[in-house]
Amino acid sequence: MSTVSNSGFWEERYLSAQTGWEKGRCAPPIARMLGEGLLAAHSHVVVLGAGRGHEALEVAARGLEATAVDFAASAVEATRAAASRLHLDVEALRQDLFTLRTTHAVTFDAVLEHTCFCAIDPARRDEYVEVVHAVLKPGGLVFGLFYAHGRPGGPPFDTSEEELRRRFGPRFDVERLARAPDSFSDRAGQELEFVFRRRG
Ligand SMILES: C[S@@+](CC[C@H](N)C(=O)[O-])C[C@H]1O[C@@H](n2cnc3c(N)ncnc32)[C@H](O)[C@@H]1O
Repeated sequence: MSTVSNSGFWEERYLSAQTGWEKGRCAPPIARMLGEGLLAAHSHVVVLGAGRGHEALEVAARGLEATAVDFAASAVEATRAAASRLHLDVEALRQDLFTLRTTHAVTFDAVLEHTCFCAIDPARRDEYVEVVHAVLKPGGLVFGLFYAHGRPGGPPFDTSEEELRRRFGPRFDVERLARAPDSFSDRAGQELEFVFRRRG
């Protein structure tokens, strides 16, 4: 059965152009956050469920080390093609993010989240938090946007500030969690921008 936990589910979306999430560029709140100096020079940032790589390309364009992870072949190919076209250095891995725990333990200075948490099976959200914790260096950041649209069903699956504090709070310090003021217009008021820091 094809479910959101299978790469085939997403690959089919790419092949049939059912990519309603696709904006063709980095989300404005994330570009803004990257410009705020949250991250030290040369930080290594991993983008989970990176899609066609718009956020990873933005990370690389700002001189940071960028790794994009996605398990849909078309997404990874598109990221590689864009990086080549733009002469940007992005490592694009075709990999299930849930396997990063073993392949990339304590590797990254930051994890960038954008429309990935809302794409995975909600029953795997604690597992997602474990992966983020495992791949970050102590004191590392997970930051970006969570989709809190308040509608049933999915993907995209809804979340809330309360859920995020409950799931991340035991292992991360919440440094920011607030409605983003500059989302894409069709997501206005529905996104939470956040910065959480791995404790210890
Ligand atoms: C809704 S799309 C968003 C893509 C991208 N973040 C964007 O905003 O353009 C979700 C992406 O997550 C990927 N994805 C979902 N579950 C994944 C997993 N377990 N491992 C790796 N990638 C995953 C899908 O292949 C898809 O490209």
